[in-house]
Amino acid sequence: MANNIRPASMERITTPALAQAFIDEQVAEIRAQVGDKKVLLALSGGVDSSVVAALLIKAIGRQLVCVHVNHGLMRKGESEQVIEVFGKELDANLIYIDATDRFLDLLAGVADPEKKRKIIGNEFIKVFDEESAKLEGISFLAQGTIYPDILESDGVKAHHNVGGLPEDMQMELVEPVRLLYKDEVRVVGEALGLPHAMVYRQPFPGPGLGVRCLGAITRDRLHALREADAILREEFDNCGLAEKVWQYFIAVPDFKSVGVRDGKRYEGWPAIIRAVNTTDAMTATIEEIPYEVLHKITSRITAEVEGINRVLYDLTFKPVGTIEWE
Ligand code: XMP
Repeated sequence: MANNIRPASMERITTPALAQAFIDEQVAEIRAQVGDKKVLLALSGGVDSSVVAALLIKAIGRQLVCVHVNHGLMRKGESEQVIEVFGKELDANLIYIDATDRFLDLLAGVADPEKKRKIIGNEFIKVFDEESAKLEGISFLAQGTIYPDILESDGVKAHHNVGGLPEDMQMELVEPVRLLYKDEVRVVGEALGLPHAMVYRQPFPGPGLGVRCLGAITRDRLHALREADAILREEFDNCGLAEKVWQYFIAVPDFKSVGVRDGKRYEGWPAIIRAVNTTDAMTATIEEIPYEVLHKITSRITAEVEGINRVLYDLTFKPVGTIEWE
């Protein structure tokens, strides 16, 4: 049984040297635990699973089998980055499953946010289960559990996180970062050579764009949301806000307003910008985005994204508004 209590004597990992010592120790531990057996990992592309993947690749190379399920609700370029970094650069044993149609077909016509979450969570487990059943000789399941997950293991995270896997999976767990806090996972990730953008990725909900394409998801509105979100991220990168703001994204509601484009009536959806700062996600304040940045984002989104004809800025703090709209 793995030790799940962080010893008081454990030093906080804040420097590359401390990260390297942790990596060396974990590589030895993983090799001792796993031997020549195979390990399975659901690789979402989030910080925790990415760092675990990189650690395991370092320890056991292609004995690690990574499964990346694209539920069709990823942000622009995210699945591609997983393939690029893990499949190509790190030469991981990576299975990529594009399950977009399965998820979007199941979600068609479903407007209730909790139902949407449930469908996405359940289908994720199903796809992962089906895929792992096809594999032979897997003895271990790796997970990106971090210390706050253990401290808060009151079941909240389990249903909150897509990728929460069924408990009846008959595999021993490998959880090399289970005693680390998020900031330490990031330092370790950088020491492992993962891209900065991956290691410092802002929090992204498991159901992904599914809870930002408000109401019943349609492919065209989801596409518009993904493109508008990519523009927001690009402009935040350009002006330095990406490093400063805790979480920022676009939500697109399920209604249209009247507008004009190319001299003709043009009905489109509004893109709603959300940009919040917080330390614990329990309360949040609003970033004061400079007007010229808002102006640029608005011009680009309305000009470049098919289907969007207005850009709004959500000024609501939490409470009373939650960070996500659904
Ligand atoms: P709210 O919207 O509750 O969000 O203010 C607080 C933080 O949690 C994230 N969030 C989720 N994360 N699955 C997740 O893994 C979810 O279903 C989910 N819903 C919200 C949200 O992005 C914010 O960082």
